[in-house]
Amino acid sequence: MSLEALANKYGTPLYVYSADQILDRLGMFHEALEGRDHLVCYAVKANSSLAILKLLAEHGAGFDIVSGGELDRVLAAAPEAAGRVVFSGVGKTADEIDHALNVGILEFNVESEAELDLLSARAAKLKRKTRFALRVNPDVFAETHPYISTGLREHKFGIDIKRAAELYKRVKGNKWLEAHGISVHIGSQIRSADPFGAALGRVHKLVRQLRREGIELRSIDAGGGLGIDYHGGNSDPAARVRDYAVAINAALDGFEGRLLLEPGRFLVAQAGALVTRVLNVKQNGRKTFVITDAAMNDLIRPALYQAHHEIVPVMPRAGRARAVDIVGPVCESGDFFARDRKLAPVETGDLLALLDAGAYGMSQASNYNTRLRPAEVLVEGKRARLIKRRETIADLLATEIP
Ligand code: LLP
Repeated sequence: MSLEALANKYGTPLYVYSADQILDRLGMFHEALEGRDHLVCYAVKANSSLAILKLLAEHGAGFDIVSGGELDRVLAAAPEAAGRVVFSGVGKTADEIDHALNVGILEFNVESEAELDLLSARAAKLKRKTRFALRVNPDVFAETHPYISTGLREHKFGIDIKRAAELYKRVKGNKWLEAHGISVHIGSQIRSADPFGAALGRVHKLVRQLRREGIELRSIDAGGGLGIDYHGGNSDPAARVRDYAVAINAALDGFEGRLLLEPGRFLVAQAGALVTRVLNVKQNGRKTFVITDAAMNDLIRPALYQAHHEIVPVMPRAGRARAVDIVGPVCESGDFFARDRKLAPVETGDLLALLDAGAYGMSQASNYNTRLRPAEVLVEGKRARLIKRRETIADLLATEIP
């Protein structure tokens, strides 16, 4: 599929995703976990396009949501998947809980004592039998960017693993609450299997302790967080999933219940590129700036996490690569995609592709500088289709009252 043809047809900036690659990635989890009862609950926040949710639901995936809005997306894309939804997040409102209770989700991942009380009250009020898991904080350090690390006691997420048993016991006998599972999520973009193994080892120990005390949990949710290689190279994603599964299986040896996983990035990041057109090339003293029609509002990862995305010309020109800054038109110096990056010669009108942009790209896009968010295209086999049209100024102004 020619990115140039797609850019000409749908305009730029344009997100382009490969359905085949997303399904390949989903298949890797199934292969690596063969023989273990498991459900992959895709983390909707990574890329919440309806078409991608639908694709994953059709292939049996469940979903990890963190808001009522994400639940509505799942229901719009695949209403039959409501029973495969887990609801995470530290600040669920009563309305969001009611909504999820009414559609009958699989499990609430409860992050505090106060939330457990709220869930109990809402379940009693609506007279719904409610499955919950406590999201525990295992106090495990995961080597990643501080903004996306979540498994230490100093973070806002989860319940101290030492207190969890007491909470399970407290609600034992509650008519509406069923202690269904336990969950953990230690962070995102984690490239080693060890911290996952360490966290799940602690979780399994607690599950065994609870069993001895008469509380039988049926599922363990290992969260998301499996990282990818943003620097290209020849890392093998299937091998990474296998290592991950080996660590999980070692930690959960003897656990007969169901394993839930919440991968986001690993499923969609490398299936997506952001295609942008060069508006001009500008020389400021010794520095060269390549100014693109995409900006930090379209892909904020470099500005927010100093994240690296490979950037390649769609139709490379001959000539020597030189170091340039690749920047967008937003009025902030933080609006860059790359600094001092070696890039083959480019001219006004050329197309660049920012790679591995399928996760946390469009889902974190904003309208800063009153910029219209990009269109999105999904490539399925040899066919491409528009899955989100470009926003118009009318879309944006429609909610405002002058
Ligand atoms: N489950 C929970 C409870 C989460 O908080 C997250 C991500 C996931 C699953 C999925 O994690 P993944 O498999 O995608 O690593 N915006 C950042 C990433 C934030 C991740 C937040 N939580 C970025 O662009 O790198």
